[in-house]
Amino acid sequence: MVIAGFVMVHLANHLLSLYSIAAHIAFMKVARTVYRHPVIEFVLLVSVIFQGGSGLWMVVRGWSVRQGAVAWLQATSGGYLAVFLLIHVSAIMLGRFALHLDTNFYFAAAGFHVPPFQLFFIPYYLLAVVALFTHVGCACYWSLGGRSPRLRRVALSVMVVTGCIAGVAIDLSLAGKLQPVTVPDRYLAAFRR
Ligand code: HEM
Repeated sequence: MVIAGFVMVHLANHLLSLYSIAAHIAFMKVARTVYRHPVIEFVLLVSVIFQGGSGLWMVVRGWSVRQGAVAWLQATSGGYLAVFLLIHVSAIMLGRFALHLDTNFYFAAAGFHVPPFQLFFIPYYLLAVVALFTHVGCACYWSLGGRSPRLRRVALSVMVVTGCIAGVAIDLSLAGKLQPVTVPDRYLAAFRR
């Protein structure tokens, strides 16, 4: 629930960059007053470690008994999310505390603007958003257990398609395809070393 609450605000924050990067940064400034409060951030980061660790454990434990496309979709999307979260949060902390960067829009965008790093970052962020929506879609599918199979499949499909649209939109924005993006040199330097 902690991660879900944060991620809703977090993705809304990234989608705001489609409208304007200045609005994205202004929104982040306000949101940080909540999620960067030491107690809240501590609870969030412990939740991330718990979610990632327990998720990977469930993927491995259920390997030989898991059956059906939805169960495998849930395991694959959860497994990707766990690995993504561990890399993503480590990178943010490294940027913040070791490189002393403001980890805003430009921190995420830098990798899209120094070849060949976009080959990593385009699928990395796209799959994270698709995996998140797919994982929640699988939860919707199971929780609609008593309803018609068609309704359950539609609920899952709507979530997957929404994730694809949101992921592509965020990638295009970070890549500067929706509006001009000039990433300051201090962010690019980390990739040019
Ligand atoms: C395209 C997708 C994403 C981008 C571009 C992105 C980018 C960022 C950036 C720039 C920050 C630093 C925020 C700050 O300094 O205030 C951050 C933090 C974080 N992100 Fe993401 N993120 C994405 C998706 C996700 C997803 C899907 C999750 C979780 C499932 C996630 C979880 C987190 C967490 C836990 C933090 C650390 C918050 C903190 O303690 O400061 N992110 N992300």
